[in-house]
Amino acid sequence: MKSFIVYCLMLISFSSLAQNEIFIVPEPASVQLKKGNFILNEHTTIQSDAATINAKQFLLKYLGDYYKLVLKTPSYNKGKTSINDIHLRFDANAKSRSAYTLEVNKNNILITGSAEAVFYGVQTLIQLLPVNKHELLIPELTIIDSARFSYRGMHLDVGRHFYPVEYIKKYIDFLALHKFNNFHWHLTEDQGWRIEIKKYPKLTEVGSCRNQTLIGPFGSEKYDNKKTCGFYTQDQIKDIVGYAAKRYINIIPEIEMPGHSIAALSSYPFLGCTKGPYEVRQTWGVSTDVLCAGNDSTYKFIEDVLDEVLNLFPSPYIHIGGDECPKERWHNCKVCQLRMKDLNLKNEHELQSYFVNRIEKYINSKGRKIIGWDEILEGGLAPNATVMSWRGEDGGIVAAQQNHFAIMTPGTPLYFDHTQSINEDSVTQPGYNSLKSVYEYEPIPKALKASESKYILGAQANMWTEYMGNENKIEYMLFPRMTALSEVLWSNIGNRNWNQFEKKIPAIFKRYQLWNVNFSKAYYDIQTTIISNKNEGILWKLTTNNKEGKIIYSTPDTKNRNVFYTDPIAITESGIYSAVLKDKNHSELSSLLNQEFHINKATGKQITLAEAPSNNYSAGGVLTLADGIQNTKGMSKSAQFLGFWGGDLNAVVDLGKIESISKIYLHAFEQQTSWIYKPSIVSFSMSDDGINFSSVDSTDKGEGMNNLLYKFNCKLNTRFIKITARNFGEIPKNQPGEGYKAWLFVDEIEIY
Ligand code: ACM
Ligand code: ZN
Repeated sequence: MKSFIVYCLMLISFSSLAQNEIFIVPEPASVQLKKGNFILNEHTTIQSDAATINAKQFLLKYLGDYYKLVLKTPSYNKGKTSINDIHLRFDANAKSRSAYTLEVNKNNILITGSAEAVFYGVQTLIQLLPVNKHELLIPELTIIDSARFSYRGMHLDVGRHFYPVEYIKKYIDFLALHKFNNFHWHLTEDQGWRIEIKKYPKLTEVGSCRNQTLIGPFGSEKYDNKKTCGFYTQDQIKDIVGYAAKRYINIIPEIEMPGHSIAALSSYPFLGCTKGPYEVRQTWGVSTDVLCAGNDSTYKFIEDVLDEVLNLFPSPYIHIGGDECPKERWHNCKVCQLRMKDLNLKNEHELQSYFVNRIEKYINSKGRKIIGWDEILEGGLAPNATVMSWRGEDGGIVAAQQNHFAIMTPGTPLYFDHTQSINEDSVTQPGYNSLKSVYEYEPIPKALKASESKYILGAQANMWTEYMGNENKIEYMLFPRMTALSEVLWSNIGNRNWNQFEKKIPAIFKRYQLWNVNFSKAYYDIQTTIISNKNEGILWKLTTNNKEGKIIYSTPDTKNRNVFYTDPIAITESGIYSAVLKDKNHSELSSLLNQEFHINKATGKQITLAEAPSNNYSAGGVLTLADGIQNTKGMSKSAQFLGFWGGDLNAVVDLGKIESISKIYLHAFEQQTSWIYKPSIVSFSMSDDGINFSSVDSTDKGEGMNNLLYKFNCKLNTRFIKITARNFGEIPKNQPGEGYKAWLFVDEIEIY
């Protein structure tokens, strides 16, 4: 009997302990946790005043969908709470639009604030619900909360892949659940025009269909041979705008111009400089064909389209694109050149600036403002434009310094089309944006003075969908990074702490499971680090964030199969090593990691670089060049490259003693669409003392296509080997990144 009582006491203290751990994302400004709980059940009532009815409806639907719980909804009782009651109350004196107070007592729950803020309070309440559905205990507490940034955005590109109305609503719900307040809807693209425009029916009759779609990474020549179409009718758009408004989410439509407009040109070839014919684009990248900036009929067309867009979207901001517009067609177009001459414009960048200014004036005349990608800075910024900074943060910094508003969406780390897993198997855009890098992103750049930083409205993550052909893939790329970003945008900077966020991850994942959404478990992936074994070979260190699992590994030697990992493994022979994370029932918690090593005389040796790589592509430091790992997966494993932006590779390998050698290899990489060019020349030279180098051998040709191999065959004895790869230089005309410095990417040196 005694042990039974002890057991019961243990259970009680255990459950109350577990109950009072709360995991709210984004972290509220202040939480005062008390003892005891409110019990939510079928007897609970919910009341709201007229202003806060949207919040009530959202909560009722959530409880119905995920807990099959129907609350009682008595009519509003003038601010009086009753027993077992949730009370939503508009507060005319709230400090700000996002400021709410949530009070949970034993007998009732009270949320007060503006209509919008009460909605945010309901999102917090939702996160206090346990995900197991047995007993819905909500801990007694007081939360006082408000948002840090006024612009909290998520983007979705429906041009590359079309998503139906129901999914757009689901996506909007994801935003609402994370207290985002802007949905940037990228509605027109080279690959598809997705919005019905009554005055120009061909935009959807022709422009919403493409005859086939590229399979695999950009640059592959494979197509699916399937026609796809899709667009939203104006009625559907009105329905979606209303749906979002009930969730306090503003939809910013993006109508791309003057680039990324092939779908429009295919529908109405008069819009282009060459008059076509054009075809809705079937592959990715950037097209040289753009809207003609010289012809008045182009501007008439855009104004007509915008008239209908402005009618559909109440958003104070309209996004007009402005990115990636090659100037070749304008350069060769009589009408464009005439326009430049008439207006005394020095170059085509100024013509683009004229274009954007003219559209801005039109949109301003209708009482709205424009947002454009950071290219709109080139040739002079339109007077009232807000800049969306995507090519890093510089665009946002320059805009703020000119007293223009800016929204931060830098590719690193806020492009969610880049992978979040170092072991990624699916095709993604090149680049690696980990959960941690998103969480640690700070939207206010250090370069700005306090008086300038007020121009940074907030930040946004972008979901370009070239490689997101279905909803599962969207969610896999979205979660949990979007959850991390919500905390960046909402929470006080002092409340943002990666280690605290890590503690929330199991609860966040359980919530995703409750919602039945797909999500990436990359956070638990086995992470690998290569350590030099005192300049004699390498050690393979394996770690995971998962506290419950155990890492098990195998080596090419059949004697080492399914060994429990304890310490870094000495990699002594070439071949495939593998590792996996398993729980106590031997179920796999992570994906299987296979790593091939090529051991050679350079492996693990000391390398000195005359010039450091870019911080964005510094991989595991200089040892990356001698870690025995060759990157055969290109940019999907970009974390295995050293990248030099405009700079050269200038490496000296110290073999430690004089050795006889017969082969030296350098592995480099080329992907021009990502601004990565092969070196203009590669040279090899030797030295016994590390000072005087001799016998230079140079080559400007590497073997292979994207993965390039530069070889030097010899027969000599030496200790120091110098390998130089000179940067390609400036990106040529009419290529993506024209005029910018090229990247040089290298990944491995081999010496035999
Ligand atoms: C962009 O990613 N081209 C804005
Ligand atoms: Zn033209």
